[in-house]
Amino acid sequence: MAAGLAATFCMLVGCSQEKENPSVKPALVREDGTTHFEVDGKPFLMLTGELHNSTSTSESYMESIGVWEQMKHGNFNTVIASCSWDVIEDKPGHYDFTSVDHVIRNARKNGLKVVMIWFASWKNGNSTYAPSYIKRDPARYPLVQTRDGGFLNVLSTFGQESLNADRNAFAALMQHIKEVDKDYTVIMMQVENEMGILGSVRDFSPAAQKAWEGPVPSDLMQYLSSHKGRLFPELEKVWGENGCKMSGTWEEVFGKSHTRAEDLLSDYPYYTEEIFQAYHYAKYVNEIAAAGKAVHDIPMYVNNWLRQPGMINPGEFPSGSPLPEVIDVWRAAAPAVDFTAPDIYISEYEWVLSQFALSNNPIFIPECRVDVAKALYAFGEYDALGFAPFGFDGGQNAAEGIYSADFENLGKCYAILSGMDRMLIKNYGSDKLRGLRVTEENTTPSVEMGDYILTARSSVRNQRAINYGQGAAQMARENAQLAAASRQQAQSGALILQTSPDEFYIVGINVSFSFSPKKEGAPGRILTDAIEEGTFVDGKWVPGRRLNGDENRVSINGVGAVRVVLYPSPVTAQGR
Ligand code: DGJ
Repeated sequence: MAAGLAATFCMLVGCSQEKENPSVKPALVREDGTTHFEVDGKPFLMLTGELHNSTSTSESYMESIGVWEQMKHGNFNTVIASCSWDVIEDKPGHYDFTSVDHVIRNARKNGLKVVMIWFASWKNGNSTYAPSYIKRDPARYPLVQTRDGGFLNVLSTFGQESLNADRNAFAALMQHIKEVDKDYTVIMMQVENEMGILGSVRDFSPAAQKAWEGPVPSDLMQYLSSHKGRLFPELEKVWGENGCKMSGTWEEVFGKSHTRAEDLLSDYPYYTEEIFQAYHYAKYVNEIAAAGKAVHDIPMYVNNWLRQPGMINPGEFPSGSPLPEVIDVWRAAAPAVDFTAPDIYISEYEWVLSQFALSNNPIFIPECRVDVAKALYAFGEYDALGFAPFGFDGGQNAAEGIYSADFENLGKCYAILSGMDRMLIKNYGSDKLRGLRVTEENTTPSVEMGDYILTARSSVRNQRAINYGQGAAQMARENAQLAAASRQQAQSGALILQTSPDEFYIVGINVSFSFSPKKEGAPGRILTDAIEEGTFVDGKWVPGRRLNGDENRVSINGVGAVRVVLYPSPVTAQGR
């Protein structure tokens, strides 16, 4: 991994301990070219989900909707809950941590860990979570200004008083967590939420303008120089095109931005402005994270709002957000932040992960839709630290035991993964663990593992209603229901773990597999020696049905796991 963030990855190689020890700090461990997470001294996958934004402000509300039962039902081991700045600090320096304490207490009681989000200076670009005394005093806590001098309701990264207040509040929060959380129930912090400016390519306030006209700070220049050849390609390109200068203004070093109007094909219009804004968000957030870590040192990350199709200029998506094209800028300016995590609501899921992994940024998906295939793909293909559907608490009715089908699937998947977490993590960084996902664009994804090629396809067939003479309207209704059911079952994918040359464990959803030899021109077909359904409990495979005869195929309907042993047919197609 690139050195900036790597430095904070604590160089803990070799510190993992086999026995659970709740007094061991949670830590990101860099090993074998990949990163995994350790909690209580053991490798840990965050099998989690994120609560709706306001849920954790009220203990009684959480009880009333049965949040803890929901998570138990879904086999979660972690909850992503938030701490709102305006809730904990009503007057300057006066803190009340009631809304934090009940989350920690109830999580502990229910055997769950907590990732806590610090909703503070910025949430989804805006500053609605700043305490009242800040929101009402823009003279002291300045706002972002647009090119024409207008104001946005977004705290400026150049507001020193805002930074001081946010940093003090976060340090107080971390101090409180340190005091009440000796067993590290809180395992990680998300600092701010999807920050960046919406509504302007950058901040044009007087302080921002002065910085824009001034030199690129030396820490960023040093980072570019020490990471030359390993920077995000577009950053490398613009820096190179402008002569790889080691000093100068933003426009001298990175060039005058292409704008959308000038260059419709440019992937990164207003890139220099985005770089500038990213640097200043990162600097601000770094001070907050560093102050928090100085008090209570647990891993901290930032998340982001991705560019969506059609959002081209920064400002249409939050400008300065820790996106892949400015990840180096974030690393240079925010060494106290351990990694950046994508919230993925767009359909280019594989592409997003590939971009975020470009520079060995560990993958954690703190927000996504409930989708088992996406979870399996992230763990299998990207050594993910964790996966979390957003707002899972909205669609379930724990009191009546009614859960959405997707949530049920997620729970089944989490149960299997939690039984094999250490096995998986042991194989992080190796080609023995792979993931694939069936999509509209790629209906037969395949992976090469050892001597074999494993090809997946969806096990769900599109169904049409049978006409028993029920009339057009009824037929249309039935077809709509079938289409909805098949959309729901459209999630199809798997993770595959190879445990010996011929043996594979496949955890999948709605997926079937065929096998072929990797060696080109190999004569025989690949046959199955044994196929077994089953699951993992405490790292051990617990077999279910042995599949043969009519069931002699690797096909998982719904969520499940199989063990399959392959062999090349000793006879050729011609029977010789
Ligand atoms: C992304 C944000 O990060 C979440 O807090 C939440 O507002 C969701 N969007 C809503 O879909």
